[in-house]
Amino acid sequence: MGKPSLQKVAVTGARGLLGSECVELCSKRGWEVVALSRNELDLEAFEDFPGILTGISPDAVIHCAAETNVDLCEREPAWANRINAEATGALARAAHQVGAKVVYIGSCGIFDGKKRTPYLESDLPQPLTQYASSKFRGEAECLTVDAGNLVCRVGWLFGGDTGQRKNFVEARRKEAATGKEMVSANDKWGSPTWARDAADRIVRLLEVDASGVCHVANSGIASRQDYVTAIVQTFEPGRLVEGVDSSHFPRSAPVPDFEALASERFDEWGIGAMPDWKDALRRYVTMAYRSLGD
Ligand SMILES: NC(=O)c1ccc[n+]([C@@H]2O[C@H](COP(=O)([O-])OP(=O)(O)OC[C@H]3O[C@@H](n4cnc5c(N)ncnc54)[C@H](OP(=O)(O)O)[C@@H]3O)[C@@H](O)[C@H]2O)c1
Repeated sequence: MGKPSLQKVAVTGARGLLGSECVELCSKRGWEVVALSRNELDLEAFEDFPGILTGISPDAVIHCAAETNVDLCEREPAWANRINAEATGALARAAHQVGAKVVYIGSCGIFDGKKRTPYLESDLPQPLTQYASSKFRGEAECLTVDAGNLVCRVGWLFGGDTGQRKNFVEARRKEAATGKEMVSANDKWGSPTWARDAADRIVRLLEVDASGVCHVANSGIASRQDYVTAIVQTFEPGRLVEGVDSSHFPRSAPVPDFEALASERFDEWGIGAMPDWKDALRRYVTMAYRSLGD
């Protein structure tokens, strides 16, 4: 079962959507947590990684920090590779030197998008975008340094504080509140995933010392239109969102049409399947907007 020595965990990207949930859930689990935001660990400064990790001496590092701007990565592939792949290799080597396991957060967007059932760990990645290529190279960097490391590929994340600029649910709620007609792509599919549910599984996977690749996403498949409709209807039942072709939203990166994930590995570690995405969305909205119902 779990690694008996797991007591201290460092989290990179600690102020980000997933990183902040990992910090909170690791603390609740009773582990000492060192939250590393950009000020404490800058992914551009590889040379600092050994000193930082030697100073902390963690048992595990959950590596959530990344260049997550998909269109920027498309325009600047060398940058994407440096931050998402090379920095991951450098971090994994520094972690290995201090005997720490690395959990690298991978992406659902690394497949070719041609499937119509969720991608499993046994499916072959074939990245279409520079972001996906850099994230997939990051996986290889992480697992090459130590096969005992873990890669958790996550779905389309939502959650976080409603005051956060990038909060997807809050942005759609505000858009709906304007009363204007809403449109969303009906030809892009994925697995909407509450960052808290993902962090919960990441903590459980650490507890059982899981290694290799594991898909971490709420279950079910949603088009962008389904997803946005479900969000706005939790606030305004019956509100419609018109489905449009994704060419309506021009972007630099040729993102795949289909990015849904499922895991065929949770059983190995005695971990149950993840809840349905609509259930996760309801739980998130209930938690984040409690005061609206008062
Ligand atoms: N969001 C999704 O739907 C999704 C889907 C698939 C995979 N993922 C992966 O999940 C992980 C977490 O994503 P997220 O949604 O939580 O993203 P996020 O909220 O944007 O957080 C990313 C964090 O990385 C930090 N960061 C960026 N560049 C950095 C640098 N050069 N040095 C140090 N820190 C840096 C950011 O710090 P600042 O706050 O200072 O900018 C931010 O806190 C990432 O690995 C991402 O690739 C996300």
